[in-house]
Amino acid sequence: MSEKLWQGRFSEKTADIVEAFTSSIQIDRRLYAYDIQGSMAHCKMLAKAAVISEADAGVLIGGLEKIRQEIAAGRFRFDDALEDIHMHIENRLGEIVGPVAEKLHTARSRNDQVALDVRMYLRHETSHIIDRFHRLLTVIVGLAKNNLDVILPGYTHMQRAQPVLLAHHLMAYYEMFSRDIQRLESCLTRINVMPLGAAALAGTTYPIDRAYTAGLLRFDALTANSIDAVSDRDFIMEFLSNASIAMVHFSRLSEELILWSTTEFGFVQLPDAFATGSSIMPQKKNPDVPELVRGKTGTVIGCLTALLTMMKSLPLAYNRDMQEDKAVLFNAVDILKACIEVYSAMLPQIRFNREVMQQAAAAGYLDATDMADYLVGRGMSFRLAHRLVGEAVSFALGKQKELHELTLDELQSFSPLIRRDIFSKLSIQQMVDRRACYGGTATATVKKAVAAAEKQLKQKKTHLPGFHLERESQEVP
Ligand code: ARG
Repeated sequence: MSEKLWQGRFSEKTADIVEAFTSSIQIDRRLYAYDIQGSMAHCKMLAKAAVISEADAGVLIGGLEKIRQEIAAGRFRFDDALEDIHMHIENRLGEIVGPVAEKLHTARSRNDQVALDVRMYLRHETSHIIDRFHRLLTVIVGLAKNNLDVILPGYTHMQRAQPVLLAHHLMAYYEMFSRDIQRLESCLTRINVMPLGAAALAGTTYPIDRAYTAGLLRFDALTANSIDAVSDRDFIMEFLSNASIAMVHFSRLSEELILWSTTEFGFVQLPDAFATGSSIMPQKKNPDVPELVRGKTGTVIGCLTALLTMMKSLPLAYNRDMQEDKAVLFNAVDILKACIEVYSAMLPQIRFNREVMQQAAAAGYLDATDMADYLVGRGMSFRLAHRLVGEAVSFALGKQKELHELTLDELQSFSPLIRRDIFSKLSIQQMVDRRACYGGTATATVKKAVAAAEKQLKQKKTHLPGFHLERESQEVP
């Protein structure tokens, strides 16, 4: 084993148990491509600033490229004794290019280096996630468009409330996921800030050119305070908050699909390819995918909680506690990406049982509000109308009938204002289509919302930042 890069001050070898305990290589090896890309830019900057020679920079960059290829090809040896990905790469550079490798770390610390790597990783993943989210939105809008004539009961308190279009219900998720995208886009501006140059915490004595490094690495801005640069993990907290909110949206959708696929509801049939059977009960078809999405939501919220708790009492600047940020970040990124993928694939294959939904919307006094509105239209105050319709519901319950199944005489016994035209007002389609205010469930209104969403999606595509297409290796060796 080669000597540790910080060994100079130490007279005793690190205990094996401590090596194993402090090592993060099994986790942060995932950052290798960003670490190398960052080191190459740092080298170029050092040469431009005449801190190292152009010749040395050329040698260092050549060695780094070789390491990149070795890791990508799975030919690289990882070892707990070398702590983390930064040490691994620098150590291997020494083996490849000799003593000149020791010049790479000039004007830099692992503290600003790791901040750089995580920011590069996260901007890449965030723009990738935004991109995938757009595809999911396209799927949702398509589904809404194909189901503009399906009506189901809308619920409050899990009780049937008023009939709504399935398309309107689906477009509610469009709105939620659109906001998730907005939050991620906003967060991206705070992720894409270049910390290199902060060094350990105070900045560096060398005549470095931070803007040049930032330009090479396509960062939009420079961190303005070196202490903050190495101790700030807000951008990860923000990402995990945004990921948690997005997962909560997925979890609510999952919960609905789980309920809707029960025999009791019977509103949807999940595709066989996205469900599993029971090892003992032959009749079972279990909604495992939505259940797991719901379950993984807890894990992502846990990642956020872990990071917030880890950071809350840390004095400035860098503390080793912060090494724990990566495991939770990577876990949350993987989960969120997988959930977007699985939902994009599953949603178009779900079968909606339109008759069952429609029948459910016709039973359970979902027309009570409309009957009250009818009376208001005939000059009654809303509160009085509400009371009278309540009495009518109670009467109908006793007769085991729906409101629209009562005779005109029976209805008129509650108010002489009621006329025959009430029956057309209580048809489900009418109830839906009369809710034509902006944002309501009327077919014409939802059609407009779908068209607006389609237009928005077309425009959005072009606004993604360029670096999501950059050659930033994704594979974990
Ligand atoms: N592996 C470390 C981390 O992820 C890198 C920074 C180490 N810095 C230090 N001063 N020990 O946080």
